[in-house]
Amino acid sequence: MKQKGTTNARTAAVFLLAITLLGLTLGATSCADKQTLGAAASPSSTVPDTREPIGLSGEAGKEHRVVMLQHLETVQAIVAALANEDYALAQGLTEAHLGFFTHRQAMLRQKPEDFPPAYHDLAMAHHEAAEELARVMPSRDLKQILPRLDGVLKACVACHLAYKLHSTNN
Ligand code: HEC
Repeated sequence: MKQKGTTNARTAAVFLLAITLLGLTLGATSCADKQTLGAAASPSSTVPDTREPIGLSGEAGKEHRVVMLQHLETVQAIVAALANEDYALAQGLTEAHLGFFTHRQAMLRQKPEDFPPAYHDLAMAHHEAAEELARVMPSRDLKQILPRLDGVLKACVACHLAYKLHSTNN
């Protein structure tokens, strides 16, 4: 019985990671709508790009990219920790890298006035989702954890659909 539960948990985590990577790949390229899922092979220029540019360039743009790449690595590490049933590690990673702590650090380095208010709201929603995820980790119950992890990923996707750094790409 225990064995079966573990296997199911691992399968669920691996499936989730696959979906995450697919979603992020689509989000980080140029997709703005669901058509992309069915048209992954077609040139991205045929997909309308409705994202609003936030106009970050130079050091601020580089810094933003570093944060984003860390986000992706963190999501991978969280899923790996869940697959290993290391809930304490999963909680620590979530709090330290995706929660409000990260937000406060980012605010110290970047000027909030550089970002549109709606972008800031999406960032806050993302941190809130991460805090909720961190809170349920000690339950060790994937029925509670996976929906919150989904909530975090939805927050990543929501912002990627709405914003990009520059107006020039795509
Ligand atoms: C509040 C907005 C916002 C949130 C939340 C957000 N991102 Fe991003 N992310 C962006 C923007 C804007 C870009 C730049 C997209 C572009 O210009 O094409 C980006 C780019 C990326 C990239 C591409 C980096 C590169 O190589 O250039 C990755 C990977 C990424 N985000 C991962 C994540 C993950 C994982 C999460 C959630 C845990 C997340 N992001 C949450 C706004 C956000």
